[in-house]
Order: sequence, then C-alpha cells, then structure tokens
Amino acid sequence: MKSVLVLYHSNSGHTARIARRIWETVIAEGNQADLMCVMEADREGLDWNKYDLVIVGAPVFYGKFSRQLVAFVNRYKSVLDAKATSFFSVSVVARTPAKCTPEGNVYTRKFLQGNPWKPKDAHCFAGKVDYPNWGWLDTKMIQMIMKMTKGPTEPTAIIDYTDWKDVEDYARHCLTLEA
Ligand SMILES: Cc1cc2nc3c(=O)[nH]c(=O)nc-3n(C[C@H](O)[C@H](O)[C@H](O)COP(=O)(O)O)c2cc1C
Repeated sequence: MKSVLVLYHSNSGHTARIARRIWETVIAEGNQADLMCVMEADREGLDWNKYDLVIVGAPVFYGKFSRQLVAFVNRYKSVLDAKATSFFSVSVVARTPAKCTPEGNVYTRKFLQGNPWKPKDAHCFAGKVDYPNWGWLDTKMIQMIMKMTKGPTEPTAIIDYTDWKDVEDYARHCLTLEA
C-alpha cells in the first residue's frame, strides 16, 4: 500500500476535478491518499514524511502554471527529489494528440526543461473550454487562441476535452513509479 499526496492548483475547478478523480482512483486501488490544493498546503503546511508518492497538477493560464504552485514545489525540491513524483498539466491545446504529450505540449516541455524541481514523470491532459463562465476578456483571449488552433469560438461553448479513462489510467501508472 502506498501513501499518496495529490497536490493541485485550479482556477475554475476543472483541474480540481481531475485531481479528485486521480485521488479516488488511487484509493480504489487500495492505497491511502490525501487531496490538497496548493493554497491550503502552503498555508497549513504538510507532513511530507507521510507520503511515498506525490502527484502535482496545474492548469495552463496564458502560457504559464500558477506562480504559487511553482514556488511551492521548488521550495520543497529536496523533499520531492527523495520521493516518487509526477506532474500533470491541463490545457486546451492538449485536445490535439500532438500537444497532449510532455514533449509536444510547449508549456509542459518548457516547465520540465527550465524548472528547478524536476518531476520524475509527466503527463498532459486536455482541459475544458467554458466561455459562459469565464470573464469577457479571458473569453476573447481564448477565442483568439482557439481561432488560431481551429477550436470552438462560439461564446456559448462549454466543452470538456478531458479523457477521464486516461485520468484513471494515469493514476494507476503513478502507483508504479519509484523514488
Ligand atoms: C484566462 C485563461 C487563460 C488560459 N490560457 C490558456 C493557454 O495559454 N493555453 C491553453 O492551452 N489553455 C489555456 N486556458 C485553458 C485552461 O487551461 C483550461 O480551461 C483548464 O481546464 C482550466 O483549468 P481550471 O478549471 O482548473 O482552472 C486558459 C483558460 C483561461 C480561463
């Protein structure tokens, strides 16, 4: 039995849903697991000794991952380096197969290359388009990205691109990782 931490950042809740599905799958496989958003972990602190495996996830916003999450994992780099770790990114460009791999997804590739903390494993998930629930400016900006990448631009579009079976497979894959 492994003891697992699923740590995430989420702006509008979709990465939180993915993190929760990973957490549920890990538990369903007979392991102990905690699910925590980085804001809570940063504020309350963590007992890192509890965990063999740490899975970290974040969405892409304007080409970047949450500054708070990035600072947090870098602060605990030496602790994380001694554990099995995996990082998953969530972005709408990952809806195409070419951009759904850590090598093909430019945000994930840059993060893996340039960031001081280097996870031992990485995965990309396609996220959600949710124009009605985004602000006017954000909607306009993402519509522009979508126009360039031949995605949906209708202002009423709500599309979940996440492959939920892949999320569960990823959770099981993470359980096989070694420190
Ligand atoms: C303001 C904003 C900026 C975004 N920027 C990007 C981006 O640069 N590239 C991309 O692929 N997806 C981008 N997205 C899509 C999000 O990564 C996607 O909607 C994700 O599912 C959001 O996850 P969350 O609900 O956990 O915050 C953006 C979304 C918003 C609202």
